Amino acid sequence: MKNLALLRRLVPATLIAGLLVSAGAQAQFRKVDDAVEYRKAALHLMGAHFGRIGAVVKGDKPYDKAAVEADVAVIEMMSKLPWPAFIPNSAGGHSKAKPEIWSQQAEFKTATEKMEGEVAKLSAAAKSGDLAAIKVSFGSTGQSCKSCHDNFRNR
Ligand code: HEC
Repeated sequence: MKNLALLRRLVPATLIAGLLVSAGAQAQFRKVDDAVEYRKAALHLMGAHFGRIGAVVKGDKPYDKAAVEADVAVIEMMSKLPWPAFIPNSAGGHSKAKPEIWSQQAEFKTATEKMEGEVAKLSAAAKSGDLAAIKVSFGSTGQSCKSCHDNFRNR
């Protein structure tokens, strides 16, 4: 993996280990806690980089095309990682996951795909360098986050 050095600076070691093991769909977790920590770490990083773009969209930070592209690249990678870590019986404890994730699996999967589709559009907008398009796409991506959180995450 070419970007491993960069990842090491960004990502907790446990997450990297999981990432390398689970490049495919089947993540392996020895304990429920490992799965919860893994998915929360990926979601946390996704949120952090989404927030950086948010600051640009709001005008709190100057627009830098390369920086936004780099943020979207992290989001794209992170956006695929949390889902296999929603293993059965992993709600409760340190997790805010709602039981509906498992009782409405098809809806949950649709919500992941919806978000990944929006992130792909955000990536295209970032590459185009069109700040107006980035703003629009940032808004619809944020909606896709919110709609899943409303349905599947406890407050
Ligand atoms: C398909 C559903 C879904 C989508 C889409 C989704 N999330 Fe989440 N998110 C969750 C769930 C469920 C949790 C709670 C996970 C847990 O605690 O086990 C969560 C937790 C989080 C957290 C808290 C992580 C932590 O440190 O505990 C952040 C930040 C976050 N999401 C950001 C985002 C952002 C930003 C997006 C959109 C780019 C997004 N999420 C899209 C379901 C989703």
